Amino acid sequence: MMDFTNLGHTCVVGLHWGDEGKGKIVDLLTEYFDVVVRFNGGGNAGHTVQIEGAKFALHLLPVGVLRPGKTAVVGPGVALDLPRIIEEIEALDTRGIHVAGQLRLSDRSHLVMPYHKKQDRLSEEALGNRKIGTTARGIGPCYADKMLRAPALRVVDLLKPEQFRTRVAAIVEQKNKLFTALYDDREPLSADAIADEYLACAAKVQPCICDTTSFFDKAVQTGQRLLFEGANGTLLDIDHGTFPFVTSSTTSAIGVPAGAGVPASTVRTVLGVTKAYTTRVGAGPFPTELDDAVGQHIRDLGHEYGTTTGRPRRCGWFDAVAARYSTRLCGATYLAIMHLDTLTGLERVGICTGYTSGGLPLEGFVSDGELLARAEPVIEYLPGWRDNPRDARSFGALPEQVRAYLARIEALVGVPVAIASVGPDRTQTLVRCV
Ligand code: GDP
Ligand code: IMO
Ligand code: MG
Repeated sequence: MMDFTNLGHTCVVGLHWGDEGKGKIVDLLTEYFDVVVRFNGGGNAGHTVQIEGAKFALHLLPVGVLRPGKTAVVGPGVALDLPRIIEEIEALDTRGIHVAGQLRLSDRSHLVMPYHKKQDRLSEEALGNRKIGTTARGIGPCYADKMLRAPALRVVDLLKPEQFRTRVAAIVEQKNKLFTALYDDREPLSADAIADEYLACAAKVQPCICDTTSFFDKAVQTGQRLLFEGANGTLLDIDHGTFPFVTSSTTSAIGVPAGAGVPASTVRTVLGVTKAYTTRVGAGPFPTELDDAVGQHIRDLGHEYGTTTGRPRRCGWFDAVAARYSTRLCGATYLAIMHLDTLTGLERVGICTGYTSGGLPLEGFVSDGELLARAEPVIEYLPGWRDNPRDARSFGALPEQVRAYLARIEALVGVPVAIASVGPDRTQTLVRCV
């Protein structure tokens, strides 16, 4: 079995368009680490963990918080929706799980404000059929304001309430004008109400707020091991994904140093997570999409509906071209392949080994989105499996067709499969010696 005790600081990242099963893998690995860190994204993420039948869907809290005694950190690269993370903490409280003591929030994180969510929604509505299909969690507008700098608010700003109120008043005045001018919006937001809400939230989480950069420095020096929990997926990366149908942060493993605030040399192992097929929520190119009965079969069996928005996920064959691209970009050293149980019962399973356009082969995962949207996938079919592997507890116990399928993925993507997942529960995970 792969030796998790010997991994060094590790990053778990999705290799396709999100929802690969990162939450489950982070939960599994947390046992072997001391600190679990979110470094990108925000409330757009939805990470599911299932422990003995009990299901948890976390959006802003690092999944590691579910393991008692582990520290969970929200790094400066996260777009922090403060009321929402408090809702998550309180929802866990009602289930008898008290995590506030384990949590550290970076004082440098940018705050997602109510006007960011409104802007996200209005902008999408205005785009009509050209919309990105965002999660409406205010992610793009928050990161845009961060880049603009003048209209941005960080966690540290909450620690000076009067100044915070003044800044909120000035920004909300501008936003209200903007929304009226651009979208003919006639329902101005109240700066006072927003400031009141956020300052009340700050009071609740004040003990968690700290300089997480110094915290990591000390943690590393004292031998603690860090696990970085990627959000979204590599193909949604702002620089390297299917732009403009992406999110607004660095979702790939190369986002760890900047988003967490650790030296570039910190991460030793990168685990790339992907399903045994490919899914996508929202708009944008998806060469292997199956708009047919097989796609619906996968959606039904895999319960492919969004954790954050409930939208049906688009489903398609495993895209090895995209996975190879993401694996290289992230420097992934191992793969975790999820949802092998979901493909049960299909006569044959497809893997995309290349793309063509107008009968000519394309050079890998091309950057031209229009070309990618029109690309024809080259599908190689392998025999399917009849027996559901959900009860298998070792690689050797998997049906031989499943093992052949995994071997083909390894060959095409170029790195070994260290983990195979055969169901949503923590126990339905097979680890291999690689
Ligand atoms: P994340 O965003 O990458 O953490 O993934 P999500 O939690 O959004 O989506 C993955 C979904 O698949 C969740 O509902 C998981 O409980 C579920 N899941 C994870 N691994 C498996 C698996 O091997 N088989 C099945 N059937 N479900 C799985
Ligand atoms: P996890 O961490 C799947 C997608 C949205 C949309 C695009 C932009 O659960 O894997 P945004 O709200 O970020 O501006 O939306 O990105 N998206 C995700 N899709 N899983 C996610 O997170 C996602 N986070 C963003 O559907 O297409
Ligand atoms: Mg998700």
